[in-house]
Amino acid sequence: MRRCSRFEPSGPLRGDYTPPADKSISHRAALFGAMSDEPVAVRNYLRSADTRSTLDALLKLGAGVEEEADGSVVIRGVGLHAPLEATGGLLDVGNSGTLLRLLPGWLAGQPGGIWTLDGDDSIRRRPVDRVAEPLRAMGAQVEAREDRFPPFTVRGGALTGIEYDMPVASAQVKSCVLIAGMLADGSTTLNERAQSRDHTERMLRRARVPLERDALRITVSQVDELELDEIVVPGDPSSAAFIVAATALVSGSRVVVSNVGLNWTRTGFLRIAQRMGAVIIGDLEEPGAEADTEPVGELDVASGSLEATVVEPGEVPLAIDELTLVALMGAFAVGETVVKGAGELRFKESDRIGAVVEGLRGLGADIEETADGFTVRGDGSPLAGGTIESHGDHRLAMLGAVAGLASTGGVEVVGMDASAVSYPGFEEDLGSLLA
Ligand code: S3P
Repeated sequence: MRRCSRFEPSGPLRGDYTPPADKSISHRAALFGAMSDEPVAVRNYLRSADTRSTLDALLKLGAGVEEEADGSVVIRGVGLHAPLEATGGLLDVGNSGTLLRLLPGWLAGQPGGIWTLDGDDSIRRRPVDRVAEPLRAMGAQVEAREDRFPPFTVRGGALTGIEYDMPVASAQVKSCVLIAGMLADGSTTLNERAQSRDHTERMLRRARVPLERDALRITVSQVDELELDEIVVPGDPSSAAFIVAATALVSGSRVVVSNVGLNWTRTGFLRIAQRMGAVIIGDLEEPGAEADTEPVGELDVASGSLEATVVEPGEVPLAIDELTLVALMGAFAVGETVVKGAGELRFKESDRIGAVVEGLRGLGADIEETADGFTVRGDGSPLAGGTIESHGDHRLAMLGAVAGLASTGGVEVVGMDASAVSYPGFEEDLGSLLA
């Protein structure tokens, strides 16, 4: 049941907007809640297909999940060392790469347990060797199809701490190893290639897990338990990015974004968009101290005339889920916009390099694919419009909608239903700003 939606050229976006809850932080809050001995109240838990998959997997693992009317979820955990009688079997991760990569870190440290993680067609293309390699080095027994893809089977066992140089800058891999590190004998050290989102580190500090960070080197030590009681999930900057891009692109727009997460490791897109000429007022600076909470704030966004930019590899992990929006904005900007060092985009919910290049070209963009990114040229005039295929990827579906509002002829999005993976209320929210 793929749904098509048409997005016509629109007048300015105006008003106040609050994004849905953060997907990354919701997944982690539920997982860490399940690892806790005491109940954990997660305020503003994201209600979406992906975060539903996490709750369902945790229920299967024996955790209690109480969904409250105010949007909170109370997780009654099984403890870090989960009782075996409450475990076993097939765990359906749906479309969620985050669940696919984080959960094995916990399961790998449960001696005697055996679980298989599997999901939809898109998840079956997502590599798990990136977590299998460090988990094996810690002593876990894991098996994957072609040694690389789900179904992914994890046999729990005793783990030993390692020092691991991560070959990719990935918060998912980092989080998996940090979780396994809490169960492993001794300490576990990770060396990141570049700074990636740090929600796991913040939540672990909050749970009083000993964690040391020295630039790109992070060490976690074995612990018996997590000490968490309440987690408040901020609005998702990656979901808000679609509204920010629409506001930047449709002339005369001005939107105030409230209760949005402003963690510096997530706001790379906002800095890139600012550099391109979008008017964005908000606190986007790098924080000084090691934090155990998530910064939340407000953004005042307005349209501007856009200029091309070059996104360097070091910026990529800080804007990883928004780089397709940089391509869209590049198509409306003056000059040549280049994104480099973003080969990871090929392993997302779709091959986002191939899909965005094909999609935007179909709407009239002058865009070329490179091995690890793309180059898009514009002269400041809007895209003509046409039809775009979401490839079942939530972020491409929402990009198509934004492209439609800013185009001269409108855009038909094939597979708009995919947006429910992270943002079920997207079309309604967009509509309310156009009213
Ligand atoms: C995520 C990290 C990113 C991001 C994904 C969510 C997370 O993936 O693309 O949507 O919650 O840790 P990588 O860290 O693998 O790049």
